[in-house]
Amino acid sequence: MTTMDLLFTPLRLRDVGLRNRLGLPAMSTYQAAPGNLPDPHWHLAHYQTRSIGMGLVVVEATAVAPEGLATPNDLGLWDNAQTKALTEVAEVIAAQGAVPALQLSHAGRKASRTRPWGEGADAPLAEADGGWVPLGPSPVAFADGYRVPAEMAPQQIDTSIAQFAAAAARAVTAGFRAVELHAGHGRLLHSFLSPIANRRTDAYGGDFDHRTLLLRQTVRTVRAALPDGLPLLVRMSCRDFLPGGWTLDDTVRLAPLLAADGADLIDCTSGGVARPETRPTGPCWQAPYAATIRHKAGVPTAAVGKITTLGQARDLLTDGTCDLVLMGRQLLVDPMLPARNLPDLAPAPYRRALATTAAAGDGHLPPEL
Ligand SMILES: Cc1cc2nc3c(=O)[nH]c(=O)nc-3n(C[C@H](O)[C@H](O)[C@H](O)COP(=O)(O)O)c2cc1C
Repeated sequence: MTTMDLLFTPLRLRDVGLRNRLGLPAMSTYQAAPGNLPDPHWHLAHYQTRSIGMGLVVVEATAVAPEGLATPNDLGLWDNAQTKALTEVAEVIAAQGAVPALQLSHAGRKASRTRPWGEGADAPLAEADGGWVPLGPSPVAFADGYRVPAEMAPQQIDTSIAQFAAAAARAVTAGFRAVELHAGHGRLLHSFLSPIANRRTDAYGGDFDHRTLLLRQTVRTVRAALPDGLPLLVRMSCRDFLPGGWTLDDTVRLAPLLAADGADLIDCTSGGVARPETRPTGPCWQAPYAATIRHKAGVPTAAVGKITTLGQARDLLTDGTCDLVLMGRQLLVDPMLPARNLPDLAPAPYRRALATTAAAGDGHLPPEL
């Protein structure tokens, strides 16, 4: 088998077959219509285009409850109108041959913010603009100037688990064939894992077993809400970049427990639990986390982070770093990248354009014109 074959070799997760091992990670676009609905003029075109040639497309962080919205411009999935509207998003992805997945999120203490561009960008949302007091494990703010979250009561924790499960069931109704839990970037599920944000002394805080309880219960409950044949992915910040934070060793320890609870793949990101933090960067910079978890924990992984070429993606698969490669910003700006390299992946009209421009090399029009 050639190395190119591995990148474009199908991957099976439970009963779901991905035609290749290339995926779009969840990327918030902050373009939701009122009601936290997909905007047909944005989301349908956006996701259709980014599904060309892809194995998996994970639709952006979608809140399981209004208080779990990171920004008012996020998608939500707690009512019937949202379920119905998301059906079309799943359809345009599937129509291009990619598997549609949905990322479910509760932003926790990072809720109630502005989107990352425009006036007043990337800041706490003012009360006058509809801001609210976010929920978190402990009354510790994400960063200076951010609201102190309300410490979640056990009843509110139970509610959030039920909200994740209800949203997962809605995602299936809408036609998504995989669900990803957002347990990274300081959102609710990550904030319970990390001693930086979680100072609780009850069953949900303290040592490893207690800090991981919420994520484990959520995985089990969501698993039970999904058909057996559909995969459940968990996006984790594999480490914090702060002293006393969640570590890669913690992730290695937790990953097999999550797999036993019903998770099928760990999507390996990092950081984001508090500010300020300094993250390293560089080509494929987070891939070593995916490799460590895959090898030490024996759980399938996805690698993500500054993977910008198909050559890098192929190398990561060939050297056993991961089972799936996610390409974010590169595919936002260059969605034809996979099909340009393997024209068979392109829809027929584009395939012909690729053949008649690239092959001739001189831009000749097809003979019938
Ligand atoms: C504009 C933008 C929006 C993002 N939204 C999400 C999101 O909704 N959920 C998530 O888990 N990660 C999100 N991320 C992180 C990406 O999924 C990805 O992990 C990150 O961009 C690194 O990959 P890249 O270097 O290929 O872009 C976002 C990143 C960017 C730049």
